[in-house]
Amino acid sequence: SSQQRLVVVSNRVPVPGVGASKAGGLTVALEGALKRSGGLWFGWSGETVENPTDQAKVVQSGNITFAVLDLSQRDYDEYYAGFANRALWPVCHYRLDLVQIERQELNGYFRVNRAFAASLAPLLRPDDVIWVHDYHFIPLAAELRRLGFKNRMGFFLHIPWPPSDVASALPAYQQLLHGFGAYDLVGFHTPQDAENFQRCLVRENIGSAIGTGEHQINDHKVRIGAFPVGIDTESFARAAASAERNALVHRTKASLGDRDLIIGVDRLDYSKGLKQRIEAFSCFVRSNPDFRNRVTYIQITPKSRSDVPEYQRMQREIAEQAGWTNGSLGEVDWTPVRYVNRTVGHAALAGLYRMSRIGLVTPLRDGMNLVAKEFVAAQQPDDPGVLILSRFAGAAHELDGAVLVNPYDTEACATAIARALRMPLEERRERWESMMVRLRTNTVDAWCQNFLNSLGDALEPQISPD
Ligand code: G6P
Repeated sequence: SSQQRLVVVSNRVPVPGVGASKAGGLTVALEGALKRSGGLWFGWSGETVENPTDQAKVVQSGNITFAVLDLSQRDYDEYYAGFANRALWPVCHYRLDLVQIERQELNGYFRVNRAFAASLAPLLRPDDVIWVHDYHFIPLAAELRRLGFKNRMGFFLHIPWPPSDVASALPAYQQLLHGFGAYDLVGFHTPQDAENFQRCLVRENIGSAIGTGEHQINDHKVRIGAFPVGIDTESFARAAASAERNALVHRTKASLGDRDLIIGVDRLDYSKGLKQRIEAFSCFVRSNPDFRNRVTYIQITPKSRSDVPEYQRMQREIAEQAGWTNGSLGEVDWTPVRYVNRTVGHAALAGLYRMSRIGLVTPLRDGMNLVAKEFVAAQQPDDPGVLILSRFAGAAHELDGAVLVNPYDTEACATAIARALRMPLEERRERWESMMVRLRTNTVDAWCQNFLNSLGDALEPQISPD
């Protein structure tokens, strides 16, 4: 089975030499995974053009073949900026207040999935193992099955899956659930997400349990499981250790003087809890005057999905809040919050994590959150910083050595910051060690292996194309 080719499908594909690399947990994880095994990586080029062809552009790089399609503006608006990011994303992050449902966008989503399946079809070999990623492509396997493909197909969701009362706010909810039934394996980051999903199936009478982690959906046996994604721990730790020579790290260190650094790194997204986080930091400063002018909070926040209205609103709100916080808390010689809408390279990030006393990772909801894992991996073993982690991030299921917080509870978060800054070395070391044990075993390679082994064990597809 090691001769079988791996075919990865995801919306974002980091084709070498094309555009700036987009920050996001998914591409980070998949780059790690595919580098080892090689294979085909299929998805969107990241471009919109006037008349897209249905033939994928193919770029070979090392052992990975990249095959990507452009989108028309309409497809981009309806499938990506529309249904994927104004319906699926908010629902899966428990934000029914932000959901926008448009029939046209829903149709666009299914149309693009059908078109992508049709363009992938000529590139496929009968024994390819197909691994589809994330919420953009839930119906992809169903479309491939309709075209007659019997390959093993797995799906991994990189974002949370909510309880059925929340999930059922999705339009075409049942159709989407049926779509999962075309896969042989459906994976989530946490047991909780997997359990939510199984309850959805049962409640809608779409799937019935036929053993541990196996469901019968339509005529098809589907495995369901939790596969928490990891990072390339050793190499990230190495990058962090050698980042002292990095120019940005060097300048940042110099700019801090002897102030302690608190760091947050997130795409600008309402799921990340930035508003609550800045509020918690300012609450911390106000209630701990001895720390005034002694800490700096750097929040690195590249803009994301800027043509989705909910994101535009966020961008204004957070910028205003950061400015306002500095205006009211700051001093002539102290900027408490350094808020930057910039992408910072991996090496520099590793170095910044390493020099930080606190990593603030406080999403209101997050599938996994790899920043949390990278922050831990980057620490100096003899003097590690403290991770403050939201209990609503998937990573909280694994990183037991973090200071876990409820991100909605501003005062508790402020207290956690003070506690972390005062935490004795011995406790910091203990916490860090226990997290590193996890991170060293549960690497991105292990994640990939576990998922693919489980997909390999899954029963042969029994669905018949209609
Ligand atoms: C999350 C999603 C990914 C996505 C990434 C960046 O990590 O799970 O699928 O690629 O965010 O978002 P973007 O919309 O820019 O691809």
